[in-house]
Amino acid sequence: MAYVIGVDCGTSGTKTVLFGEDGSVIASKTIEYPMYQPKNGYAEQQPGDWANAMIGTIKAVMAQSGVSKDDVKGIGISGQMHGLVMLDKDNNVIRPSIIWCDQRTAAEVAWMNENVGEKKLIEITANPALTGWTAAKILWVKNNEPVNFAKIAHILLPKDFLRFVLTNEYATEVSDASGMQLLDVPNRCWSDELISAFGLDKSWFGKVYESCEVTGTLTKRMAEELGLNEGTIVVGGAGDNAAAAIGTGVCEDGKAFTTIGTSGVVFAHTSQISIDPRGRVHTCCAAVPGSWHVMGVTQGAGLSLKWFRDNFCGSEKETAKYMGVDEYYLMDKEAATVPVGANRLLYLPYLMGERTPHLDPDARGVFFGLSAMHTKKDMLRAVMEGVSYSLRDCVEVFREMNISVSDMMACGGGGSSPLWRSMLADLYGCPVKTASSKEGPALGVALLALTGAGVYSSVPEACKAVVRIDKTQQPDSANVPEYEKYYRLYTEIYPALKEKFRKLAALG
Ligand code: XUL
Repeated sequence: MAYVIGVDCGTSGTKTVLFGEDGSVIASKTIEYPMYQPKNGYAEQQPGDWANAMIGTIKAVMAQSGVSKDDVKGIGISGQMHGLVMLDKDNNVIRPSIIWCDQRTAAEVAWMNENVGEKKLIEITANPALTGWTAAKILWVKNNEPVNFAKIAHILLPKDFLRFVLTNEYATEVSDASGMQLLDVPNRCWSDELISAFGLDKSWFGKVYESCEVTGTLTKRMAEELGLNEGTIVVGGAGDNAAAAIGTGVCEDGKAFTTIGTSGVVFAHTSQISIDPRGRVHTCCAAVPGSWHVMGVTQGAGLSLKWFRDNFCGSEKETAKYMGVDEYYLMDKEAATVPVGANRLLYLPYLMGERTPHLDPDARGVFFGLSAMHTKKDMLRAVMEGVSYSLRDCVEVFREMNISVSDMMACGGGGSSPLWRSMLADLYGCPVKTASSKEGPALGVALLALTGAGVYSSVPEACKAVVRIDKTQQPDSANVPEYEKYYRLYTEIYPALKEKFRKLAALG
């Protein structure tokens, strides 16, 4: 049997899985690391932490599995999108990475809109200027840290930094590069026009590949360190969402998935490029050559629940430890005892600003309707419902764009919650399915590696051979109209607060 390694460099940790060619999990290991928030709205991580976590997890899966290195046919890498990694001419990391959920770049986005123009940006990059995307971060460094800017020799995305560590190649692939705001997304290549309009240097950016193409091979030094063969191929891989699509079989029109990780994403495959003229959802190149995807993103999905757990659920943590179960499992059970609507309590999950549908870095979280009768359980349920309303907002934009979704998968940490899946089925009004494998992005890039290694002849063929449906959650006809009432009210709260968020941000 052939084996492949899938690495997923996430925000809370890096997970590496060794898979058999049939998608079976042979060994898996995760190493966590911190996210730093030096100011309200800032978010940074250390690329060195990602590299150490990747090296540690690959070594661990090889040691646990006992698989011969000769049978490992390739490596695929996936990761959090948009993060800025800058290397100097000696390949040293210049400063901590400013990551996807950082919101410091409002001034740079305004500059891009004024100087390049919203229309041109959408025409070339298929997306409006966005605070979380890489180009705005580079411009922030240019404006605020000129000494660091002057040192730049290479710019990489988080997973592409890991590729560099493995292969010594400066390269990226279309799905992740789409989130830099520097790629000509319809034509799947760098935009010379934008790179020059932003005052950047094309030589900083690596070669752009399709996601299943071979981008390099393991160096002798890394092969020795990892216990693998020199020359093992490393394929393009994909941004975490494009990778999760492959890992859940979303590779044809009509197929979509929702993931609740730190952020929440609703993602639909599209063989024809489709752009929201208002820029509320992103259009990016898919990991299937020659196709695209649209995705709506809510910034604080799993992040909201983690924030709630860390600040209010100390006793659940204790009980979970005592019972030997996951604390989220207990929280799910508690929230399930509260009726739809959380006893008339609503939550807006904008802890790190919001993208779909508001594109507002100043938006912040809100509990609306708190009463003395509410308990922690109501707040917990309201958090889960608020995230689900925000994901429904994404589906509403798809509907306006005539993107039809006939098949919705759920994945990510939140996808394993039966309560969350039932909320999504009720709010979307369609069945929500899970795949048998829970490895979304890691499996997705493993399938890309198997395609790059020639085990499968195409990405869709790899999906067909490996991805299987596990559970299907049907909408509950009694809940659907109840949720609808709360969702309608939810959509009215942000417009009422929009200006207040701006005033709050101005308080410094
Ligand atoms: C997508 C996005 C997030 C990150 C983090 O645009 O910002 O999904 O990729 O996972």
